[in-house]
Amino acid sequence: MRNFLVKTLAPRCQTVLEAGSAEEGARLLRSHHVDLIILDIALPGQNGVNWLKDLREQGFSGQVILITAFADLDTAIEALRAGASDFILKPFRVPQILNAVRHCYESARLARENFVLRHTLSSSQCTGNGLVGHSNAITLLSQTLRRVAVVNSTVLLQGESGTGKELVARALHALSPRAQGPFVPVNCASMSPELIERELFGHAKGAFTGATKARDGLFYYAQGGTLFLDEVAELPLPLQATLLRALEDLRIRPLGSEQLLPVDVRIIAATNRSLQEEVAAGRFRKDLYYRLQVVEITLPPLREHKEDIPDLVQHFMAQLAPVLGATPLEITPAEMDYLMQYDWPGNARELRNLIERSLILGSLNVSALYAMDKRQASAAGTMPPATTDLHTLEKQHIRAILDSVQGDKTQAAQLLGISRRTLERRCAEWALP
Ligand SMILES: Nc1ncnc2c1ncn2[C@@H]1O[C@H](COP(=O)(O)OP(=O)(O)OP(=O)(O)O)[C@@H](O)[C@H]1O
Ligand SMILES: [Mg+2]
Repeated sequence: MRNFLVKTLAPRCQTVLEAGSAEEGARLLRSHHVDLIILDIALPGQNGVNWLKDLREQGFSGQVILITAFADLDTAIEALRAGASDFILKPFRVPQILNAVRHCYESARLARENFVLRHTLSSSQCTGNGLVGHSNAITLLSQTLRRVAVVNSTVLLQGESGTGKELVARALHALSPRAQGPFVPVNCASMSPELIERELFGHAKGAFTGATKARDGLFYYAQGGTLFLDEVAELPLPLQATLLRALEDLRIRPLGSEQLLPVDVRIIAATNRSLQEEVAAGRFRKDLYYRLQVVEITLPPLREHKEDIPDLVQHFMAQLAPVLGATPLEITPAEMDYLMQYDWPGNARELRNLIERSLILGSLNVSALYAMDKRQASAAGTMPPATTDLHTLEKQHIRAILDSVQGDKTQAAQLLGISRRTLERRCAEWALP
């Protein structure tokens, strides 16, 4: 029976392993990552259902098809309770077993998708898809995306905050041959180092206090799809080494586990800092930088493609009005002029936030922008803007925003369209309160 199954499945599966006893099976499970087990109930000296119960208790989360010659309804029910995915009777025909395997594969994919969906809903508010704009910059970007999407190389997206890096990462995935697979975003700045490691690589049962069950990591959930490492510059140095090893071997080792799991994942990384500068400052590993920037795409800041502002305004209006239950606003030519003149340090996200606030208030909220602009100008003093470097501008802008909300960092971060953590980091860098 085993020989027959191996012959039938080997041409259709990535790897087929075989074991003649529960002990042999357990050994294989320690050294391999297994998606599906086909298990006979009558094992030498053991009951397969009991063995399955133990397996599940140890945290095995793959699929299990039970086979047996002498089944009755009770055994079947017990098997399903013990965590079997399917149950087939001997003797069976090839199509029967193939159907069961296919069915298991589908359920595993659905489970992965559900997990990813939950993770995505809790970690990202990005709903938009598709790049909007007709400028040279956006047209060029769209062309690059289409070309890069179809190859499997690692992509590094660089660009200021709010320029659309996550949007582009999702577009790259959607246009790639992996589009049917999951897109898994991970924000490297939002978790503690220990947590990122666990989240990325998963862990074995007992790997740390509180690890009562084994858990798969996001790398695993991204199988066949794309893993989006957002704010990759924030990854702590020791984890950079672990990540580099994973990318080179295409294998990962869950925390506290001896197994190496093969992973088939495309990596897209994003950062709003210059990784080159981070490398020069010794905060980012050079070898990892080279590994990530196989293809490097730099997103233009909005002030460099202002001709797209009218399109973007329309787009955000159409996207947000129904969600907010508001009526789209008419923009007067004077208001549009103003929007075209403004420098948009928070890029498309700042524009989106402005439209959102305006829809809620029922009128375009340019006065807030105007106030900010004036403060920015007066803070710049008599210095001609041409000689004001970007960092100074950014600092002044942030200070003006902080002033306008009496130093409330949560509110300021929202207005700026950046995370509170990014804001705090900037404030620390510039010794702002
Ligand atoms: N060209 C564009 N067309 C349509 N929407 C855009 C475009 N660029 C940015 N956006 C929108 O602007 C918002 C911010 O984009 P996104 O979240 O991708 O920025 P980001 O570069 O990841 O920023 P951060 O570095 O702060 O994470 C999103 O709502 C996104 O959909
Ligand atoms: Mg982002």
